[in-house]
Amino acid sequence: MHERVLVCYGTRYGSTGEIAENIAEVLRSRGAEVEVVNLKKGRVRNLDAYDLVVVGSGIQMGRWTKEPLNLIRKNREALSHKKVAFFVSCLSVAKPEACEQAQRDYLDKIVSEFPEIRPISLGFFGGLIDPTRGNFMTKSIMKALVQSFVEEGEEPPEYVDLRDWNQIREWAEGLMPDPFSDS
Ligand SMILES: Cc1cc2nc3c(=O)[nH]c(=O)nc-3n(C[C@H](O)[C@H](O)[C@H](O)COP(=O)(O)O)c2cc1C
Repeated sequence: MHERVLVCYGTRYGSTGEIAENIAEVLRSRGAEVEVVNLKKGRVRNLDAYDLVVVGSGIQMGRWTKEPLNLIRKNREALSHKKVAFFVSCLSVAKPEACEQAQRDYLDKIVSEFPEIRPISLGFFGGLIDPTRGNFMTKSIMKALVQSFVEEGEEPPEYVDLRDWNQIREWAEGLMPDPFSDS
C-alpha cells in the first residue's frame, strides 16, 4: 500500500509553493502518493485520506499565512492522530543572530499552540526575495531587503534565493525513510 501524503501550504509570493512541490517530488520518488494543495487556491476536505500531512507557510512580518493555520486549527483533533510535519520559509536563516529566535517564533510557538499535535519533524528553510513578485505595497520592501544583502553602494542582485534545495530534499527524505536503506 502506498503512503498517502498531503503537502499543503500558504504563500504570498509563490516561493513556498516551489518548496512544497520539491518535497512532494522527493516523497513521490519514495513511492508515496502525494497531493499538493496551495491553500490560498484550493481546499482540503478530508484529512482521513492521508497518512502524512505536511503543512507549511511563508513568513511575513513574523507571521504564517492564515490558511494553513486555519487548517491546523480546524483539524487539530484529526491531526493529533496522524503523522504531521510543519515547515516555514523565511529570510531569518540568513541571519545567525536571528535564527534561533525565528525558529522559536515561527515553529516552536505554533507547535506549542496545538499541544495535542506532535509533529514528527519541523523544517526551517530559507525563502526567496524577488521584487518582481511583489505587489505595489511590498515591491519596495523587497528591493530594500535585497539591497541589505550587499554592501552599501554595491549593485544589488535581482533577487535573493536562500532556499537550500539539498536541505529541503534531506528533510523530505527524513519524513519517509527509505525502507531499503541500511542506515
Ligand atoms: C514584506 C515582507 C516581510 C517579510 N517578513 C519576514 C519576517 O518577518 N521574517 C522572516 O524571516 N522573513 C520575512 N520575509 C521573507 C519571506 O518569509 C520570504 O520571502 C519567503 O520566501 C516568502 O514566502 P512566499 O514567497 O511563499 O510568500 C518577509 C518578506 C516580505 C516581502
